[in-house]
Parts: sequence; structure tokens; C-alpha cells
Amino acid sequence: MYNLKPETFDFRSVKGISQRQLDEHYKLYKGYVDNLNKIWNTPYIPNNFSDSNPTYSKMRSLKLGETYSLDGVKLHELYFQNMTGGSKNPYGPVLNAIMDQFSSYDNFISYFTNVGLSMRGWAVLTIDSIDNKFHIIGSDLHDKGAIWLSYPILILDVYEHAYFMDFGTDRKKYISEFIKNINWNVLNSRFQKYIYLMQSKNARQYGQYPFRFFY
Ligand SMILES: [Fe+2]
Repeated sequence: MYNLKPETFDFRSVKGISQRQLDEHYKLYKGYVDNLNKIWNTPYIPNNFSDSNPTYSKMRSLKLGETYSLDGVKLHELYFQNMTGGSKNPYGPVLNAIMDQFSSYDNFISYFTNVGLSMRGWAVLTIDSIDNKFHIIGSDLHDKGAIWLSYPILILDVYEHAYFMDFGTDRKKYISEFIKNINWNVLNSRFQKYIYLMQSKNARQYGQYPFRFFY
């Protein structure tokens, strides 16, 4: 029995985005959790899935719903985490690494903002395991553009449901308010966890081979 529970977030710590906007957004997130539980609790009974095909079938519907809702849950949790809880001044190892790779903080914010303005779903700063470098990924849907074995550091929701109530069509204003709320403790924690994971992986694979973060 799968029984995933929605996480809670300190929306009162967010400035410049209304409680009503955040509460309505949270309802959507809870819906993804509910649907994911329904999907995961659907028993596999072979006779119920005898029509499987890639155009229209029960299994196809189940699998498309699974990736959409699972990515929807994960992305919203990462997004709400990195915009709540304070610590709003950029600092720490993740900031240093960002400035090294993107030339400056302002250049990074400009790039990230333009990705957010260009996509219909998400802008995601990740570190990819293929090169241990930052990449800013854009996606139009929760499960379109998602990269496997890429570690998310900063997530921005740019679906209209994330900002339309407060900002109408002014997405740029929403993104600038979001950036003011970024919790840099969360970003540094994710960054450190990635380095720890890669050090552990390298230690297992290569003995004491030292891990280097390339930027
Ligand atoms: Fe959303």
C-alpha cells in the first residue's frame, strides 16, 4: 500500500507572492500526491492490461500519469522548499561555484530568468553527473525535458498557475520576486549532498580516487 503524504512549507516566510496564490498552488501539488497514490495502488492484474499498445491503452494511460504526477510531486516539493524559510542573501559554496561557472551572479540570474521566460513549465538549475557542471534545463511539462541522473539545485515553476493570480501576464515580475525569496541554505545543502554522493560513488568505484567538482 502506497501512502505518500504531502509535505508542508512555510509560506508565511515568502514576500512579494500572496498567501492566496501560494495556497492555490499548494492545492495543485496535493492533487499530484493523491493521484500518484492512486496510480501506485493500482494492482497489476494481467487481464486488465491485455490491450497494451502505444496509442491508447490502460497501461499507457497509467504510465503517462505516473511520470507526470511523480515528476509533478518532486518538482513542486523542490520548488516550495527553495523559496521558503528565509536565508535570502546569496552565499556559500554553491554561490562561489555558480559565479565561477557563469562569470558572475548577475549573469547567472539573467540566464536563469531568460530560461524561465522561455519555457511553459519549469526552469531547473542542475548539476549533471556526466560532467559535474551546472546546467540550466528548461521544460514545458513536468515529465518533458526531465534529465535522468541530473541533480536539481534550484527549481522555478513558470506555469501560469504559479503566478497569474498575483502578476497576470507579467511573468518577469514574478520571477524577480521568486529570486528574492530563494533560500540559499537549501541550495548549499543540495550542493553539498551532491558532492557527498559523488565522493561516495567514486570511493566505491575507484577506491580512494579523489572527487573533483569541475566548473
Ligand atoms: Fe506548479
